[in-house]
Amino acid sequence: LETNERVPVIWMHGLECTCCSESFIRSAHPLVKDVVLSMISLDYDDTIMAAAGYQAEAILEETREKYKGKYILAVEGNPPLNEDGMFCIDGGRPFVEKLKWMAEGALAIIAWGTCASWGCVQAAKPNPTGATPIDKVIRDKPIIKVPGCPPIAEVMTGVITFITTFGKLPELDRQGRPKMFYSQRIHDKCYRRPHFDAGQFVEEWDDEGARKGYCLYKMGCKGPTTYNACSTVRWNGGVSFPIQSGHGCIGCSEDGIWDKDSFYSRL
Ligand code: SF4
Ligand code: SF4
Ligand code: F3S
Repeated sequence: LETNERVPVIWMHGLECTCCSESFIRSAHPLVKDVVLSMISLDYDDTIMAAAGYQAEAILEETREKYKGKYILAVEGNPPLNEDGMFCIDGGRPFVEKLKWMAEGALAIIAWGTCASWGCVQAAKPNPTGATPIDKVIRDKPIIKVPGCPPIAEVMTGVITFITTFGKLPELDRQGRPKMFYSQRIHDKCYRRPHFDAGQFVEEWDDEGARKGYCLYKMGCKGPTTYNACSTVRWNGGVSFPIQSGHGCIGCSEDGIWDKDSFYSRL
């Protein structure tokens, strides 16, 4: 690794909330400082770079020419297509234009989070801005979907570590997600699973079952249909995850969570 040239990464932001970045900068294994300072060359990131204005935009042009076919395009958020893309203007032009322009020279694209992977809340019906997942706009490049709202920090840095260590893209499932993190359902490794198998369920938020840590399925837990690494990798450096905090999984890494009988639509 120490002798490898650091992989150039361009990190762009469309319609999103920036919590994917917030998650990323909290990675503990590996530490995000090691990723940013030793493993990749993060040459552009609207959110955290010091450069601004024309100086910042010039980096895109330079990277596109100098590292053609070698850089990773990491995208947080998605492009809105209605009204010719006018709902997201970035650097003086519609984000969708900037996205397509930088995608042309990229080796591969990482779609960070549920926004970039599936559309997320801004694509929920009636989707007034025409928010559209990355893979519906870019058709001719490998796209690695890393869904979650946000994705787990160590899943994000794990994907980057795999690429920089092995010099290839991770194996993906049929939906474009890395198999190493998204091949199992939350339910498969949930520590409350024995209660599910035994028919022991929380029926009210403050009942005896809740105090005993019973299964949250009857409270709307989407763990049985959600593919993510929360019940294995967990959050905050492996400390906990939503179900361990007493809240069912809302399926934040799945397509269409806001329209398909989501946890919140039941309230
Ligand atoms: Fe924010 Fe979720 Fe979109 Fe990430 S996927 S930018 S956390 S809304
Ligand atoms: Fe499955 Fe959710 Fe119950 Fe865990 S809490 S066993 S994920 S239904
Ligand atoms: Fe999201 Fe469910 Fe994990 S809500 S954070 S996929 S436990």
